[in-house]
Amino acid sequence: MDKFIIKGGRRLEGEVTISGAKNAVVAIIPAVILADGPCILENIPDISDVSISLRILYEMGAIVENLGGGVYRIDATPIKEPVVPYELARHMRASYYFLGTLLGKFHRARVAMPGGCYLGDRPIDQHLKAFTALGADCRLENGMIDISADMLIGSQIYFDKISVGATINAILAAVRATGLTVIENAAKEPHIVDLANFLNSMGADIMGAGTDVIKIRGVRQLKGTSYAIIPDQIEAGTYMVAAAATKGNVLIKNVIPKHLESITAKLAKIGVNVEEFDDSVRISVDGPLVKTSVKTQPHPGFPTDMQPQFSTLLCLAEGTSIVTEEIFNNRFRYVDELRRMGADISVEGRVAVIEGVGKLYGAPVTAPDLRAGAALVIAGLAAAGVTEIDDIYHIERGYENIEQKLRALGADIEKRTVPGTAVRKDPAAM
Ligand code: EPZ
Repeated sequence: MDKFIIKGGRRLEGEVTISGAKNAVVAIIPAVILADGPCILENIPDISDVSISLRILYEMGAIVENLGGGVYRIDATPIKEPVVPYELARHMRASYYFLGTLLGKFHRARVAMPGGCYLGDRPIDQHLKAFTALGADCRLENGMIDISADMLIGSQIYFDKISVGATINAILAAVRATGLTVIENAAKEPHIVDLANFLNSMGADIMGAGTDVIKIRGVRQLKGTSYAIIPDQIEAGTYMVAAAATKGNVLIKNVIPKHLESITAKLAKIGVNVEEFDDSVRISVDGPLVKTSVKTQPHPGFPTDMQPQFSTLLCLAEGTSIVTEEIFNNRFRYVDELRRMGADISVEGRVAVIEGVGKLYGAPVTAPDLRAGAALVIAGLAAAGVTEIDDIYHIERGYENIEQKLRALGADIEKRTVPGTAVRKDPAAM
């Protein structure tokens, strides 16, 4: 098992460049199946969720070429069997996007139930509601989701709950359906807009992505295209918080400031300086951080994927802060780990009360999931002493070259493989 060893207490200074967005790319890679020709994808991050997504395409028969520099040429036209085996699907929650894309292309799909990183309940009822509305028959048996349709007919889909995954799956299934599909109460995350732009560059007819009503006129054919993935708003937010936690001064490059608005607002509120430029932001801190309250919300609200990182920063702020996790019903599993480092946090259901302690201390900790792992890295960077973080495979699913990027900013971080522990636990997917 690999670990990170971090000697904390060093200010982060310099520049870091943000990679392509994980939650966009895990939807866009499966979407290549909908094209009747090869696609060129650029700005693809080197993270394990991408490797798994590409492996699934490869195992299904697609031709996947790594052209170097984050550029891939993918020809999915050889795929004939719309089945994603359990062995691959279980590693990643986003494997369920193969349901929408295979249904959209072949009118049938058989995909293993996705793994579920333990953030609490993560049902897929809204995904199945969308497929059913389009005319598909959905069955769950032996851990596999089996969907099929004689025809896919455009339909009205109203989501009972705002869901990023269900919105993406509905788009993937509807782009080649017959007629007009209207999705209401749709999620508005930047990665949904990125997917819609990608599909439209293939010849799809999608309007309204980024709003809560998305209209899709089905088309008969989609052609191959070239497309560059947007920068990762959560990776950017993570480095913003890391810079603030170490009272550093960091220029974060290759960002879309508009995607960071809610993060920027909250950082400014607690006393962090955020300077915005066209495609970068600079973070610095020249005074004490102060308490605040934050509630996670669907975009454009404060992102749930930034909740563990921001909560860690609030441990270093003066006063009592309140963090409410509105999206998932168990996203505070990192709190026990932070307590080992001296944090004073009490959790009641979806609410964490954080007493600013001013200082954290290095300790051995374990990453429970991707963003919680990122939070522990931030805690280790800010803490006095040495922090060892175990199970870092979670972190490497969503952060490209994180130790190299942090070392370039002056952090004392190294990755160590513990001999004889190479066998990895089943990676919780998310
Ligand atoms: C996506 O998960 C992201 N994952 C998550 O990022 C992110 O936290 C989440 O969206 C919210 O932004 C990927 O994009 C691969 P949801 P997803 O469907 O699609 C409930 C990360 O760290 N729900 O928007 O699974 C669900 O239980 C990961 O990068 C239903 O009830 O999230 C949750 O409470 C973690 N029924 C809420 O909706 C459904 O059918 C939002 O979930 C679907 C969801």
